[in-house]
Amino acid sequence: MHLHKYEKIWLIFGIGSLIFFLAVLGVAAFAFGHQPPSHMTTVDSQNLDEDPVWSNPGLEKIDENTYRARLIAQAFGYDPGVIEVPEGATVYFEVTSKDVVHSFTIPGTNVNMMITPGHVNMTSHTFTESGEYLVLCNEYCGTGHHYMQMTIEVIPQ
Ligand code: CUA
Repeated sequence: MHLHKYEKIWLIFGIGSLIFFLAVLGVAAFAFGHQPPSHMTTVDSQNLDEDPVWSNPGLEKIDENTYRARLIAQAFGYDPGVIEVPEGATVYFEVTSKDVVHSFTIPGTNVNMMITPGHVNMTSHTFTESGEYLVLCNEYCGTGHHYMQMTIEVIPQ
């Protein structure tokens, strides 16, 4: 079979890119342990009030500058509606939904996750700058969707 020179270059380029990107993916997954956000922690969304872990959502200090924020998303807000952390704090967010699919999005940061009922959705963020951070819902969840928000107050140290 005769291949034109440009066809060969194009084939080598195509196959080369495929191998390159699969290698990048493989190194990220197996050498650096990158993986999609965990959806492995489940919870009974109908009985959050009786769940010892979820009956009292809010902020919990883990150590010096590390916090865990357990938050419940529901139409049309988050519980609690405000949390306060000091500047420089790393916050591990664990968010679940009481009803339908919502999102937990902090504009201007990399925090943007879907909140699915029955799952504990996790992410973390280090707040290096003080100020008031708005949290928004990005998933259409009903008539009050556009009012759904909470705030994170990052207090200067
Ligand atoms: Cu919750 Cu949109």
